[in-house]
Amino acid sequence: MSSEHESAFLSRRILELQPSATLAMDKKAKDLAAKGMNIISLSVGQPDFKTPKHICDAAKQAIDAGMHGYTAVGGTPELKQAIAKRLTEDTGVAYAANQVVASPGGKYSLYLTFQALLNEGDEIIIPSPCWVSYPEMARLAGAVPVLVRTKEEEFFALTPEALEAAITPKTKVLLLNSPSNPTGQIIPPEYIEAIGRIVEKHKLWCVSDEIYNHLIFGDARHKSVASVSDYCRDHTVVVNGASKTFAMTGWRMGWIGAPVRVAKAIEDMQSQTCSNPCSITQAATVAALNGSMDCVTEMKAEFAKRRDLIHQLLNDLPGIRCSKPQGAFYAFPNISGLYGKTMGGVVVKNPTDFCNVALEKAQVAMVPGEAFGGPDNLRISYATSQENLREACRRLKELIG
Ligand SMILES: Cc1ncc(COP(=O)(O)O)c(C=O)c1O
Repeated sequence: MSSEHESAFLSRRILELQPSATLAMDKKAKDLAAKGMNIISLSVGQPDFKTPKHICDAAKQAIDAGMHGYTAVGGTPELKQAIAKRLTEDTGVAYAANQVVASPGGKYSLYLTFQALLNEGDEIIIPSPCWVSYPEMARLAGAVPVLVRTKEEEFFALTPEALEAAITPKTKVLLLNSPSNPTGQIIPPEYIEAIGRIVEKHKLWCVSDEIYNHLIFGDARHKSVASVSDYCRDHTVVVNGASKTFAMTGWRMGWIGAPVRVAKAIEDMQSQTCSNPCSITQAATVAALNGSMDCVTEMKAEFAKRRDLIHQLLNDLPGIRCSKPQGAFYAFPNISGLYGKTMGGVVVKNPTDFCNVALEKAQVAMVPGEAFGGPDNLRISYATSQENLREACRRLKELIG
């Protein structure tokens, strides 16, 4: 059977779906590592720390206590309570347990949110560069992603003017992600204020992905759009999760806080598609949320050191410039100064060329910015040791020459 004939069986949604560029680069790096190459990966979107012990202990206790069955769809009452408390502290907006839904990962929370809010043909504004999954999830909901380019010289923040200019009668939702994957930048609180007013003026909805809100460095401050006004509170779905804050990516735990009717819609979608997040993960997350945040403070302190280090190392490389990341664990350097240079026998014309040659000749894995809407950038994850960051940049320096 020809591959064209074979794929005719697949749904239009699948045929139109773009595979994740970050996971593709990760796979390429892992394949080379399996062949014995000493790869330094700066491509993964997860903390390199182990999940803190008290969280793991709670999971073991849940297994021993026989917490083996299905739970309530959107999470156990203890978990919903703990999430509501954390969301209230995080956003400054009061959330009750019936406004919360826990799901297997923030990614699935976002998917369900898009399904709950978007109709065929609705427009969703997504500031770009952006995380690769947003446009795909929007399309899966039948909606039209409208990517609004932000500027490097404005630290990739969505400006109120750019938002206002992108709104059409079809716009229903604004997606915000601050701190951002891939840029590592935040939207300043005064912009969030102005953006919230525009959202209210045009009667839009907001989906605010705040999954990196506990990883903010220096003087930078995070403000949730839900806190701007009563309208914003009543028309925002805040998305968060345990993956990045508590180094729990593999456990799969995400959540939303939303007006009751939207939370119920999301829970209904979940009931028909995956029942509930893993019962053991739920117990672990209760321990994470109700326990001491010292472990988070420690991980953040290490990320802050790495942020300073990678910022300096990248700016020391000829042809590369990088603004200082404010949050998450990504740097998004501009490499247009390398275009036209020959490295490892390749004339570099774009970030994809550079990432390919860096992986093959220097054994350093990074993700080309084109995948995120950053045509001259690389996404570098600094969720790895300071030693690895130094060695990776030493190899890149040698490669660039
Ligand atoms: C911006 C952003 N949102 C959401 C997620 C989802 O994370 P998870 O599904 O592990 O909760 C990620 C993961 O990489 C992310 O970078």
